[in-house]
Amino acid sequence: MNRIYLNDGWYFTKHFTEDIVKRDADLSRMEQVRIPHTVCETPMNYFDEKCCQLVSGYRREIEVEDEWRDGHILLTFEGAAHEAVVYVNGIKALRHRSGYTAFTVDLVPYLTEGREQVIAVRLDSRESLNQPPFGGVIDYLTYGGIYRDVYLEVKDQYYIEDIYTVTPDVMREDMVLKADITLNHWTRGLSFEACLDLWEEVPDQPWHQELAGTDAGFRISCLTWYVKDAYTWDIDMPVLYILTVRLKKDGKVIDTRQVRFGFREIGFESDGFYLNGRQVKLRGLNRHQSWPYVGYAMPKTPQQLDADILKFDLGCNIVRTSHYPQSQYFLDRCDEVGLLVFTEIPGWQHIGDTLWKKIAVRNVREMITQYRNHPSIIMWGVRINESQDDDPFYYKTNLTAHELDLYRPTAGVRYLKHSRLFEDVYTYNDFVCTGDNEGCLPRAKVTDRTDRPYFISEYNGHMFPTKMWDDEDHRKEHALRHARVLNAIAVETDIIGSTGWCMFDYNTHGDFGSGDKICYHGVMDYFRNPKPAAAVYKSQSEFEPVMEVAASMNIGEHPAGIIGDVAVFTNLDSVRVYRNGDFIGEYFPDEQTYGEMDHPPVLITGLDKYTEKWGGKAGSWRFAGTKDGREVLTAIREPVDRCLLRITADRQTLVEEHSYDAATIHIEAIDKNETHLYYYQEPVTLRTEGCIEVIGPKVVSLRGGFAGTYVKSLGRSGKGTLYVSDAAGEVKIDFEVKT
Ligand code: GAL
Repeated sequence: MNRIYLNDGWYFTKHFTEDIVKRDADLSRMEQVRIPHTVCETPMNYFDEKCCQLVSGYRREIEVEDEWRDGHILLTFEGAAHEAVVYVNGIKALRHRSGYTAFTVDLVPYLTEGREQVIAVRLDSRESLNQPPFGGVIDYLTYGGIYRDVYLEVKDQYYIEDIYTVTPDVMREDMVLKADITLNHWTRGLSFEACLDLWEEVPDQPWHQELAGTDAGFRISCLTWYVKDAYTWDIDMPVLYILTVRLKKDGKVIDTRQVRFGFREIGFESDGFYLNGRQVKLRGLNRHQSWPYVGYAMPKTPQQLDADILKFDLGCNIVRTSHYPQSQYFLDRCDEVGLLVFTEIPGWQHIGDTLWKKIAVRNVREMITQYRNHPSIIMWGVRINESQDDDPFYYKTNLTAHELDLYRPTAGVRYLKHSRLFEDVYTYNDFVCTGDNEGCLPRAKVTDRTDRPYFISEYNGHMFPTKMWDDEDHRKEHALRHARVLNAIAVETDIIGSTGWCMFDYNTHGDFGSGDKICYHGVMDYFRNPKPAAAVYKSQSEFEPVMEVAASMNIGEHPAGIIGDVAVFTNLDSVRVYRNGDFIGEYFPDEQTYGEMDHPPVLITGLDKYTEKWGGKAGSWRFAGTKDGREVLTAIREPVDRCLLRITADRQTLVEEHSYDAATIHIEAIDKNETHLYYYQEPVTLRTEGCIEVIGPKVVSLRGGFAGTYVKSLGRSGKGTLYVSDAAGEVKIDFEVKT
């Protein structure tokens, strides 16, 4: 039987009491909620982060069929932040102490008579908990809530608990697929049959292979198949397969489990990272799993969208899921788009007592067993981010990881140089770059373990916080620092790659950030609107022509009216500049300073001699990006007489698959030439009709010329409309909701 999703029908209270676990509890003071859920919606900034720190309660009734009672009824929570105690019919069934990994409880021992059974959760999201990441200070908000899917799986007495696939040799014609199949129990008479299919049907190329059947024999069976004509999973062509395993008892199928995987082989050498035998320099960013207002509580499609943004809008080939395992939806999408992943256990600088460490080791176990079929994951982070050396502890986390997965290297993020290394890869946060010095340290200054690969897991971030509405020179410098570090890392051939800090601005604790509970460290803002630095990344990719002119050409924006160098982030061959229609010059990528980047920025010098004098009449500038001699992209900078709002939605069809769906809306101030207007900060009003509602406030101000919002479905099919209005009028976007 397929999963039965239980995301609807929950009752919630911010104040847990023992009463709510009882069958006859009074629900009148509880609120009805849907999962993903946050215990506290926050404003964008300037709020008291303690609002998320409480002991809350969730409760739901479920219906159990009589015939289910002979087997197992498995209830899984994909993510509940941070300590969950699950009660079934008033009896404490399980306690789980991690907000970032899934856990499962078998309901059968706790069932009472009748169909109706009561599930309740005491959820503690206080930071005083003795478990990772808590105990010290943390530079990100940890929120609270049952914020990932909840589902039920109904099983026979014997069932497949886990399938772990590895593809150790993809360089041969018939590729090797190994699968460890774990049963809950073994008994005589059990056998398997298996088949392999392409995940996405290619209509004219049906692909299906029956794999040899075999006796189960043991609780864990290691099966090996040689598979002909399979495609590899690669970042450019991420082909995925589905392995279906049927468990039979005395010839009758009693359980079926599917797992998606890709045929791919990774190699970490001290001179580089290899994917299917080809060297790939890793270039990416760190990602938190948060959004404005609702924190961690976002459903499938916004999770997927982040992977798409990293891959296609930021041209990354790797993401680090700082600082914890993230949604399976995000990871699934990384598999689908070909985005490599470095994931890690929860934690931030602090290591706690013996119990705390035990939970951290369990986090290693849960992370690896829950995520190891993702072909996108290439490294396990088994240290607490930026913590001190602790030999027995890290010996254990490393050992645990290797026991569970021999085919991926371990790593662990440090700010320590020459620290004790149990892991396979030395990963270091290199914040040396101050703008006018080197972009990164040579590896030899950080570690003398030349036998191990070396990866830079963070750079920039707090070294140069940048708001969308900071002045142009600041925004340009932010972007150029990213270019400087990327170039420096590319020069150092013994650095296998990097993930910069970070993808987008995020809510944080009062001790960090700009005092408003936001760290403005992203190359995008919190709504995933791009700062100029985003174009540094995008311009390294080849998906489409990119040209971001990081200048408005207004002399009054700059000290003493001097514009200085104009930076253009582009993957084109050159940029031609025209002033009032007259050709001024053609400018080329700055190979001298950024020559190791795939596409160095173009730095245009000397334009000040063409600008108007102070108070003079501003003219018109045209920048034309060329490819093979043809002008393919144009950017115009001229006096602005009017601001227009460009409003886009990532989707207009919301599908309620397992829960509500959410669309991401971007609001951008532009002029008639589609030039972004950084200093437009006016409010817009949001209103909905029909089957959708806005997440967060209904009046939002543009910040740095951008705003964002989200609309979510309400559980019923039909039409919905979002109206966005400002002084100039009203714009509407229509949605269709399918349930
Ligand atoms: C690092 C840390 C990150 C973030 C970053 C800001 O030290 O690992 O979580 O705080 O600094 O630059």
